[in-house]
This record gives sequence, C-alpha cells and structure tokens, in this order.
Amino acid sequence: MKKILLTGGKGFFSKRLASFYHDDYEWVITDKEELDITDRQSVFAFLEELRPDYVIHAAAIAVTDFCNEHPEVAHRINVQGAVNVAEAAKEVSAKMIFLSTEQVFNGNREPGPYREDDLAQPDTVYGQNKLEAEEHLKQIIDELWIIRFTWMFGFPERQQSMVNNLFWDTIVSVLNDEPISASKREFRGMTYVYDMISQFEKVFTLPYGTYHFGSENTMSRYEAVEYLLETMGLGDRAASLLIEDKEKYQELPRDIRLDASKAKKFGVSFLSTQQAMRLAIEDYGLVINKNKAGGKHGITH
Ligand SMILES: NC(=O)c1ccc[n+]([C@@H]2O[C@H](COP(=O)([O-])OP(=O)(O)OC[C@H]3O[C@@H](n4cnc5c(N)ncnc54)[C@H](OP(=O)(O)O)[C@@H]3O)[C@@H](O)[C@H]2O)c1
Repeated sequence: MKKILLTGGKGFFSKRLASFYHDDYEWVITDKEELDITDRQSVFAFLEELRPDYVIHAAAIAVTDFCNEHPEVAHRINVQGAVNVAEAAKEVSAKMIFLSTEQVFNGNREPGPYREDDLAQPDTVYGQNKLEAEEHLKQIIDELWIIRFTWMFGFPERQQSMVNNLFWDTIVSVLNDEPISASKREFRGMTYVYDMISQFEKVFTLPYGTYHFGSENTMSRYEAVEYLLETMGLGDRAASLLIEDKEKYQELPRDIRLDASKAKKFGVSFLSTQQAMRLAIEDYGLVINKNKAGGKHGITH
C-alpha cells in the first residue's frame, strides 16, 4: 500500500480527502501540531524517518485578507513552507502534489476561463504566494503535480473543518434572515468538495505538470445564489434576501474561472457547478420546500 504524507491534514479539503480514501492508502496526516512546515529541520527529519511515496502538500494560509494583512507570515507558510516540503520530498525521492489555486489569476484583466499556460498575474498576497511557490517547486522537484483548484464548497460535518464557501454562506444567511449581496459581474468555478475528492486520486496517473481542477460554471455569483435558493425550494426568499451588488467589479468584471480541459483529456472530469450544487443538495437532503424546488430552472426531484 502506498504511503502518503498529508500536510495541513486537518483542513477543509484534506481531512475529507483522507477519510474518503481511508482504506486505499497508508495515510500519515499532519497539521501544524505534528509538522509545522515552516520548521525546516523538523520537515527534513520527519520525511527522512517516514519515507513516504507521495506528499500531498495542502498546508497553507488560504485566507486572502489575512495574507494581505500579514504578508510576512503568509510568505513564511505559503512559500517557504512549500519549499521546505519540496526539498525534503526530493531528498527522500517522494513524489509531490502541490495544491494551488485559481487565485493566481486574480489580477489578470482579460477574462477567464484560464488555461494552465496562460500568464498568471496575481494581485493579492495569497495569489502571489501560490504562484511564487509553484515557480520554486518546479525548480526543486521533477516529480511534481501542481493542481490549481477552483473555489470549493461543502457543508459542515462532524469532526471536519470548514472554510468560507458560497453554498454554506448562503444557507447561513437564509437561516439568519440576513441579506445576501452578490455581483452579476463576478464569475468563478465552484466545485463540490466531494466531486473534487472523487477525481483526486487520478492525479497519481497524470504526467507530471500543472493542471486546472474543478467545475465549469456559466453563472455569475448572483445567479449562483439564485440557483441555489431555487433548487432548495427557497426561491421565494430570493426577492427579499438576494441583493445585487452593483458596486463591485464595475470597472472590470471579475472572471477567474479555470479551463480544466487539459485534465479532462486525461480522464479527470468534473460536474458543472449547477450539477454539483444539485448533487450536494441531494447528498444532504437539502430540498427544503419540495413543491417549489427547481423554480424557473425547471428542476424536479
Ligand atoms: N478551499 C478552497 O476552495 C481552495 C481553493 C483553491 C485552493 N485551495 C488550496 O487547497 C489547500 C487546502 O485548502 P483548504 O480549504 O482545505 O484549507 P484549510 O482548511 O485552511 O487547510 C489548510 C491547513 O493548513 C494548516 N496550516 C497552516 N499553517 C500551517 C503550518 N505552518 N504547518 C502545517 N500546517 C499549517 C491550517 O491550520 P490552521 O487552520 O490552524 O491555520 C489548516 O489546517 C490549500 O493549499 C489551499 O490554498 C483551496
């Protein structure tokens, strides 16, 4: 059985990933407490002792505002930490998967979807960190997959951690009767975390290189919230809760969607964001008003 070292293993994606493939690999799950990736000596000692077949490097500070406010901390973790892990992986001949992000394109002015070889021009510390880490890692280790994710969504689960995502944030707003402000000029891929996870194992079969992973999406952020509410049978709440944000992205629409056709050529394919939202709603039995589910999109359950 192949041995996998997972860094940042208590995070939103990683913990679910390791649970999903629990019986298929020998997992060594670490987070800050077990293996602080900024502690270079510990990283080298840990890998020397463990000698994993693969390292999935998920550890990061992925909160954009925090990174902008604490650029030195962000760089230490997102760039130097990744370099430490890559150099140690190389030393023990482990293959490495580095999790990167659509945010490497967040300063580009031309619209997405972006391909892997498009020039990335990030304008946030987080996006810049990930791109810089990608560049360093390519120099350090040949047996490397760089996987750039779209934004993912999912629900809180027992003993799993959560991050901010449009799906859950929308439900919380409905529960709290709070307005949801969303722009019709913002476009992002949004991928159900379990769709990402179910495809993820295929990374090991891909030629080394950079890949975009995640759902294609034709909806703006505003339309995605509207779609979610309708599909859950809460379409009648949209009129009172959903507010168009007309200020954001007025000068230039925000479109950081990823073109995932390279991965698709190798058999890695994802549901569209609409299909993924429906699957997630079904997985969690979230059709709240069955009579009204589907709304103008005509979905029946
Ligand atoms: N979620 C998404 O939609 C998304 C989209 C694109 C890319 N990604 C990338 O995918 C990866 C996983 O994302 P995620 O959403 O699962 O993130 P997450 O929940 O924030 O998980 C990251 C984990 O890394 C840990 N960590 C932070 N500093 C560390 C250190 N010095 N040493 C070891 N571990 C450390 C974090 O601990 P603390 O929480 O205690 O800081 C956290 O448990 C990240 O690399 C992220 O950049 C995620």
